[in-house]
Amino acid sequence: MSSYSDRTPGSARLFSRAKACFPDGITHVGRYLEPYPLFVSHAKGPRKWDVDGNEYVDYFGGHGALLLGHCHPEVNAAVARQVERGAHFGASHELEVEWAELIREMVPSAGKVRFTSSGTEATHLAMRLARAYTGKPKVVRFLSHFHGWHDHVAFGEQGGPGILPGITEGAILCRPHDVEQVREVCASRSDVAAIILEPTGATFGQVPCSGDVLRQLREIATAAGVLLIFDEVISGFRVSPGGAQAHYGVTPDMTTLAKILAGGYPGAAVAGRADVFEPLNYRGEGESLLGPRVPHQGTFNASPVSAAAGIATLRILRDTDAVEKANRTAETIRAALNEVCRRKGSPWCVYGEFSAFHIFTGGATPEDIYAGKVPYTALKGGTPLALTQRIRSGFLAEGVDLTGWPGGLVSSAHGEAEVEATVKALEAVIDAVG
Ligand SMILES: Cc1ncc(COP(=O)(O)O)c(C=O)c1O
Repeated sequence: MSSYSDRTPGSARLFSRAKACFPDGITHVGRYLEPYPLFVSHAKGPRKWDVDGNEYVDYFGGHGALLLGHCHPEVNAAVARQVERGAHFGASHELEVEWAELIREMVPSAGKVRFTSSGTEATHLAMRLARAYTGKPKVVRFLSHFHGWHDHVAFGEQGGPGILPGITEGAILCRPHDVEQVREVCASRSDVAAIILEPTGATFGQVPCSGDVLRQLREIATAAGVLLIFDEVISGFRVSPGGAQAHYGVTPDMTTLAKILAGGYPGAAVAGRADVFEPLNYRGEGESLLGPRVPHQGTFNASPVSAAAGIATLRILRDTDAVEKANRTAETIRAALNEVCRRKGSPWCVYGEFSAFHIFTGGATPEDIYAGKVPYTALKGGTPLALTQRIRSGFLAEGVDLTGWPGGLVSSAHGEAEVEATVKALEAVIDAVG
């Protein structure tokens, strides 16, 4: 098989134009790839094709937005119908109500819903609402967990370039899933508004979490009068039709949703206990529409086209075994890839839960990882960038597009042929790189 560069002259040509337009020539840091990123022309089901006509098994899945694969016919038909009727009414519309009703039916914590355009906006709003509702300034979150790129979440222990020191003071950063640390914080302070976390652990289980941790955090939050926020931007409608909270039977006070929620189109939401949304309400005479309530606008909130795609997607997830199928296929992939690692005597292993797989190159077994024997800093961001880049471009040369961590998100459209292609790709990549 020829190398990534040999196969992709069209991507190289487009990258030379993109470099003049974009920082690093890319539009999302997750798409960074040496010597240049893949430029894709179209996609269908579990596959996509680059501008040179090469075919790939796709594990990016629209950054996790496509649990049904690309171009599901019912989603496409719903979008096409809506485009004919209008993209934006600047008014309330029936689809937004239907969309929210489905969320309330499927997601246990969803008493009320507020739509935003992205997951980043959803976590931003959830944290602002939590502070307004409780009258307290601080939010506890876990190192390594990802909640988007707004100022309150886009930094670790060292703060971050461009982020005001005053804002970093609003965060209390804890070690991932260290329940005792959170218990101590909540017991010793009276200024904590909320705890926010990815309920499946950082980056959909790259740093694994557990139902037991969620149950203990629920108890701690309730006892301390602190709001518990599950960031289900990626786990929502993926772990189960009702997300991680339905799977584990732990109901947070607020939930952030995006990605699958809008069926591959831009759209997101905060859902949660009805009373927590009170600070968004107009209080009547004497108050301006602009305040002092919690400000939240957004030109594309509840976009009709995204609503149409979201409704079509959520109905399928509610009424079929699509989520279960993606979970089963991912389990088959993890087992098959671990078998390749063993057969080849490679120190790599493949782990993950639900519809994800993560490749760990640091020399541990999945059992070690789930026993907590591998530090979170090794699991997330511990593989040198040069190695992850060689793994990604090695897989691309074999016709498989992995996510950058490296790993993959599996859809219900993936099947035996995709599993087989992925096994072959890993064999070749281990021979070349590992
Ligand atoms: C758990 C989590 N929260 C928030 C976000 C940010 O969402 P968006 O990219 O829609 O802004 C992401 C995106 O990957 C995510 O995985």
